[in-house]
Amino acid sequence: MNQAKLVTISAMRILLTENIHSVAQEKLIDEGFKVDLLSHAPSEDEYIQLLKKYDVLGIRSKSEITQKILEQNKHLMAIGAFCIGTNQINLLEANRAGIPVFNAPHSNTRSVAELVIAEMIALSRQLGDRNILAHQGEWMKSAEGSKEVRGKTLGLVGYGHIGSQVSVLSEAMGMKVVFYDIIKKLPLGNAQSKTHLGDLLQEADFVSLHVPETPETKNMISGKEISRMKKGSFLINASRGTVIVIDDLVKALKENHLAGCAVDVFPEEPASNKEKFKSPLQGLKNVILTPHIGGSTEEAQYAIGLEVAESFRKFLRFGTTAGAVNFPNVELAAKTDVTRIMNVHRNEPGVLGELNGFISAAQANIQGQYLSTDRHIGYLVTDLELSPSHTTAPALVDQFQRSSRSIKTRVIF
Ligand code: NAI
Repeated sequence: MNQAKLVTISAMRILLTENIHSVAQEKLIDEGFKVDLLSHAPSEDEYIQLLKKYDVLGIRSKSEITQKILEQNKHLMAIGAFCIGTNQINLLEANRAGIPVFNAPHSNTRSVAELVIAEMIALSRQLGDRNILAHQGEWMKSAEGSKEVRGKTLGLVGYGHIGSQVSVLSEAMGMKVVFYDIIKKLPLGNAQSKTHLGDLLQEADFVSLHVPETPETKNMISGKEISRMKKGSFLINASRGTVIVIDDLVKALKENHLAGCAVDVFPEEPASNKEKFKSPLQGLKNVILTPHIGGSTEEAQYAIGLEVAESFRKFLRFGTTAGAVNFPNVELAAKTDVTRIMNVHRNEPGVLGELNGFISAAQANIQGQYLSTDRHIGYLVTDLELSPSHTTAPALVDQFQRSSRSIKTRVIF
């Protein structure tokens, strides 16, 4: 059934599950929304029932928002993933139901950058191994193989949000920075761009990977690339586990071609803290293994809470979908003197003409109109010169919604 919404802000109900940082709840309550909290990740059946009384859902990474949940809760207005990934949500189904999904892709980037800095020094001084020995009662005081990072070259593969921050922090420690990115990027500080990955690998004392998981980056660093790295250099991966061929890395470490590595992400990772973790990298010399904690800091959780809550606010108050991962993006300014109608429809020829026909028949004046589409849906935002008390707006919303191609219609006065 098609949905038409005339819900006011104060009547909108938001459910936040999985212990989302309290800052999100505080911000949303301050904005006038009703917010309920759950500490666990509900099961599919639980979600199907629970969501019937909510307009908006916020989750973290443990909830699975399946096709079945979405099919039975098409009334949902938005979903927020209070984390980076959105694989836990059936994005296509959400798109077809006219539900934008927001996340916080860059709120934890500083945390990852700081971990990488710590790891460069830790690898250079063999801190991991020396720490283990000291705990075991062994006194391994030696300068052999221990080096400062000052004056060394860092090669960054991927110069996006994280790579560029590592660049700035590393230069502050007196390192030389080179980077390789498929997109032309403005070098920060004295960093130098390399046209070929091979040149970076040959020059760097540390290679740190900061690329996304894509078909091109899968197995990007295999034996061939590692063999081009300097003997005695270090490899750091806090991006995605699929980027490195782990067996090739193990071989290079065992043959002492690499002097160590730090790995935070793995091709296969335990689904929870209760599961055992196994990797061929375990037990090797000067190898730092961490359980995908690059972005796991209290500051990052706080920033994620704020970022997604802000996306909810802008969407619910103004209709802005900028940053939604599965939805046509529209960035909208707040307007006080208009009635704004937001319509999601199937992207088929003639819809715009049909909807605008209703507006002209109602003799309402359009003050602004914004349309963004993807393969399946169109998102049309229309600002009309109508006062909130005018009866035309609810009638128009109803007409919009009765169009056979409409998925959802909502109005903001
Ligand atoms: P970003 O999107 O800002 O930057 C990625 C950069 O990689 C872009 O500049 C892009 O042009 C470049 N790139 C893409 N494909 C490439 C290729 N084939 N070769 C060279 N460069 C390529 O992403 P951001 O925020 O810097 O994140 C980087 C990685 O870090 C992602 O894989 C992300 O999933 C991961 N990450 C890991 C965390 C952890 O806990 N360990 C936490 C947060 C992010």
